[in-house]
Amino acid sequence: MALWGFEWGVSSSAYQVEGGWNADGKGASVWDTFTHKPGSIVNNANGDVACDSYHRADEDLYMLRALRVKSYRFSLSWPRIFPDGSRASLNQQGVNYYNKLINGLVASNITPMVTLHHWDLPQALQDIGGWENVSMINYFDEFCDFCFATFGDRVKFWMTFNEPYVIAWVAHGQGLLPPGIKNPGYAPYQVAHNLIKAHAKVYHIYDERYRKTQGGLVSISLNADWVEPKDVDVFREVAAADRALQFRLGWFAHPIFKNGDYPDAMKWMVGNKSELQGLPASRLPAFTDEEKEYIQGTADVFCINTYTSEIVHHVTSLLSPPSYDYDQDVREAEMDDSPATAMKGLRVVPWGLRRLLNWIKEEYGNPEIYITENGMSTDSKTTVDDTDRETGAENMNCHLFLLAHNLDGVKLKGYIAWSLLDSFEWLNGYSIGFGLHHVDFNHPERPRTPKRSAHYYYDIMRNNAAAHRAPWSRSGSCSCC
Ligand code: BGC
Repeated sequence: MALWGFEWGVSSSAYQVEGGWNADGKGASVWDTFTHKPGSIVNNANGDVACDSYHRADEDLYMLRALRVKSYRFSLSWPRIFPDGSRASLNQQGVNYYNKLINGLVASNITPMVTLHHWDLPQALQDIGGWENVSMINYFDEFCDFCFATFGDRVKFWMTFNEPYVIAWVAHGQGLLPPGIKNPGYAPYQVAHNLIKAHAKVYHIYDERYRKTQGGLVSISLNADWVEPKDVDVFREVAAADRALQFRLGWFAHPIFKNGDYPDAMKWMVGNKSELQGLPASRLPAFTDEEKEYIQGTADVFCINTYTSEIVHHVTSLLSPPSYDYDQDVREAEMDDSPATAMKGLRVVPWGLRRLLNWIKEEYGNPEIYITENGMSTDSKTTVDDTDRETGAENMNCHLFLLAHNLDGVKLKGYIAWSLLDSFEWLNGYSIGFGLHHVDFNHPERPRTPKRSAHYYYDIMRNNAAAHRAPWSRSGSCSCC
């Protein structure tokens, strides 16, 4: 199997690792505001210091070199570069930090993979409506244009957004993440509409101004878990599973990778329910023909973050009259016969991952795929000996990804493990660790120590994980291929 050029890497994000929340002129993000409100996060934790990566770029670079990864995916903190969100507020010290990091990576032969926005919107932009406000498109465009011009001579792999589904649904529908808006019937659709247009605009900016001279690529990191029908022999269960994938992944992937428009399943379901609610128009906004053309094809590769699989089944209607809390009318359940992890709901389901990769291949015309996040969590009591992760769940499922590549003709080009180091795990604070390196958050210097999984991953990368290391299933035979 040819794995030459396969992009092995590790990932992180600005708010989760950097700390220095107000250092050297950085502006506040929605996450600073949210975490500073008591009661928002487990143990009232916040990212004020986190792994202190803002002051410890050399230590991060040392770990990356020792791991001998080919790439490092990290995100730029928008309010560190533009404290109030606009170019007029440019903070050169923020730029200096990223220059130092990027130069260190390039000097170590590590490819920087840069996410332009991993959830930490400048608070000043939230104050004027955040992603519900269409003017964010221009602000984001201005920010990305600046980043291409400033870092694009060295950065050749860009992702506009990390998991726009989470921004739209979890932050504006469920209201669980900042800005904490709980308006499931409307806000997520409006937010997603703006995110998709913002993404497309940034792609075109790169095309028109930078691609020729910089020669990089632009994509977007979408997220999805495989969705298995409750009963594969019942048509409406299979349809429900497909619908769930369309509502999650297709919401963004269909416009960008297919035809510039939302999936039929979404248009039909949301339109239908809106009509039953007596609304004059669908709650799902529509793109004009011109916009569809502009959006279609605005990603050079397919980037997917994935952690687990779920079972779904069809429900006729969750509430009566038709509920718009959950327009797809499905109900989800965990795969409870797969290895559990510290974070509830994130069971390791390797065969599900293989199916997800195949679904993407079939649905979107066999694009080149990068897994830009995948990993396993342990609880904070686990320090360096994360044996479970290593042996019990066969860690990153790497062998399986490569089998998918090999057996199914999936064009898998890279695997970026989440995460380089334990970090601020959003609502879970520091109670959960995804890192290949343990970080002592009680120590002012935040010492980093490789876990067993770092050694394990090192071996996988060296060997290109071409062979099965261990039987997967308890019965001793491999359950994936
Ligand atoms: C996010 C990461 C997060 C990880 C584990 C992903 O959805 O992009 O920021 O740490 O999940 O929860």
